[in-house]
Amino acid sequence: MNTTLDHNLAAQKLEGRSPQEILTWTLEEFYPRVSLASSFGAEDMVLIDMLAQIRPDARVFTLDTGRLPSETYDLMAAVRQKYPQLQLEIMFPATEAVQSMVQEHGINLFYDSVENRKQCCYVRKVEPLNRALQGLDAWITGLRRDQTDNRSNMQIVELDAPRGIFKINPLIDWSNDQVWAYIRDRQVPYNALHDKNYPSIGCAPCTRSIEPGEDLRAGRWWWELSNQECGLHVDADGKLVSAKA
Ligand code: ADX
Ligand code: SF4
Repeated sequence: MNTTLDHNLAAQKLEGRSPQEILTWTLEEFYPRVSLASSFGAEDMVLIDMLAQIRPDARVFTLDTGRLPSETYDLMAAVRQKYPQLQLEIMFPATEAVQSMVQEHGINLFYDSVENRKQCCYVRKVEPLNRALQGLDAWITGLRRDQTDNRSNMQIVELDAPRGIFKINPLIDWSNDQVWAYIRDRQVPYNALHDKNYPSIGCAPCTRSIEPGEDLRAGRWWWELSNQECGLHVDADGKLVSAKA
């Protein structure tokens, strides 16, 4: 790990810079010990396209929960075709953990309780994320400040304190419109579900389309009262994994 880097200073230095400039700095600072976390959502597609222009052999990992919509798998295949040099690592959940969870609670356990939903997200996403991050000094995400209240205080460079690595959020200040302008402009492939009123896409059983006027994330874990985060970006207390001090 690069212990000399002060994430607060780095965040200040990068304030107001373009996502491409932030990515260039990130790769210079950390490559090859840095990887983009991609769910192949619109933001992640923008970042993949930008990374491929800066460093075609950039590293990307995805958490294949085994419950993704088939449209996401189609996009994954399209990304492999369009960006052949990209180092795409696909992380799967631990077989035995999935098996015993499903055996005990049933395949669609997440609808039964928040506790079950968190267990499923832990087994299918968080534990594989922890494995994906082993050996890295930094990870890149497609998080944007205006996605949720939780995310509004995030910085461009954060310390992922529990893991002792850095987290870089190059699109933090972009709006949804900027993301889509980039995708159209550069003809970046995107998830076919976006054209069917699915602005935010996760696992198939936990994502629905939204109605006009609904929040862009209203289709995620919609049956829960608080449906904002799945655990990828929060610690055990539900706080975002970051430290500004
Ligand atoms: S989530 O926590 O609600 O699921 P969201 O869908 O907003 O996250 O995505 C935010 C960022 O988390 C993405 O831009 C990406 O960096 C990362 N991410 C989310 N899901 C995955 C996944 N399945 N694999 C890899 N990264 C992911
Ligand atoms: Fe399980 Fe749903 Fe979480 Fe996917 S989003 S890991 S199916 S609870």
